[in-house]
Amino acid sequence: MLLLALLALLAATGVFLVFKHPTVVAFCSRLARLWTSENSIFDVKSLAQGVHNISSTPITFTKEEIIRTFAAESWQLQAYNDYASVLLDTERVFPCIYAAKGFKSNEQVFVFLDSDDIGDPRHARTVASALMQYLPRARALGPNTSLVVLTKHTNDTRTVEEYNVLFWKLLDGLARLDEVAWPANVPKDIDTERWCFSFNGESVFAAVQTPAHQQRLSRYADSLTVAFQPKWVFDILFSTDAKRESAKTKVRRLLSKYDVIPVSPLLSNYGDDGTREAQQYFLMDENIPAPCPLQRLAADV
Ligand SMILES: *[C@@H]1O[C@H](CO)[C@@H](O)[C@H](O)[C@H]1NC(C)=O
Ligand SMILES: *[C@@H]1O[C@H](CO)[C@@H](O)[C@H](O)[C@H]1NC(C)=O
Ligand SMILES: *[C@@H]1O[C@H](CO)[C@@H](O)[C@H](O)[C@H]1NC(C)=O
Repeated sequence: MLLLALLALLAATGVFLVFKHPTVVAFCSRLARLWTSENSIFDVKSLAQGVHNISSTPITFTKEEIIRTFAAESWQLQAYNDYASVLLDTERVFPCIYAAKGFKSNEQVFVFLDSDDIGDPRHARTVASALMQYLPRARALGPNTSLVVLTKHTNDTRTVEEYNVLFWKLLDGLARLDEVAWPANVPKDIDTERWCFSFNGESVFAAVQTPAHQQRLSRYADSLTVAFQPKWVFDILFSTDAKRESAKTKVRRLLSKYDVIPVSPLLSNYGDDGTREAQQYFLMDENIPAPCPLQRLAADV
């Protein structure tokens, strides 16, 4: 969440050494195989159709709309209640206080996916439509806003590694559906300091929580959850160095109490030397960088 960008900054050197470690190399090639084999069933054609025809129907919900719309026993309300209980917990304070505040003050909107297979092109279409509905009105929602993607609970959860691959498939699918040109000031190569995810002409931060995380509890959720924040949220939060420092310190202190493992060294300031925004979206359950299976999004489009 916000906290990622808030956080400092051990960064580069250690990270690059870790990449060269034999276990990590083996892990990456395993992941590359996983990506390629699943990629063959990645239905690019069905992605190319479709944002137009669904984006006019509202598919995002405010808190009140969720409570009005879904029955008490529905999976949507179950996912929502699980999410709410984490953010509202007063004993174990959720480290991203900006997300908690945004939730309480109705600045968040929600979209539901009926499975945790977020690599499914059907889900990319839904999230693309949700972002198209959400981004233009995000400023009106408030400075602690986000779009929260909630998924149906499954007992048959996947591994952290599998969720990482599916998350990148989602971003790839979104980029294929994007109707607005990639921002000119953001590089397309993911493995660069100034790359960040962009959609509908806007730069957007993402944070993933999975049911498979056990150590990094700030990245655990009973049902897979992805939060998207327009990056102007951080421009406001970090409008002065003093604000940046104070925000980072607060979140860091809470994170170190909340998580079983130490704060990720990958959390850093956007654009700083040696940092990678892409590595902050999906944090592994150990302090190693999540492998990114792509060099570019929508590379062949
Ligand atoms: C939207 O497009 C998809 C893919 O072409 C199609 O299957 C679906 O029926 C369309 N939905 C509407 C409401 O037109
Ligand atoms: C955003 O959240 C932070 C952290 O809780 C809070 O201090 C700040 O006042 C919030 N902004 C607004 C406008 O509510
Ligand atoms: C998931 O597990 C819970 C607890 O064991 C059980 O009550 C529920 O029926 C299971 N759900 C499914 C869809 O299998």
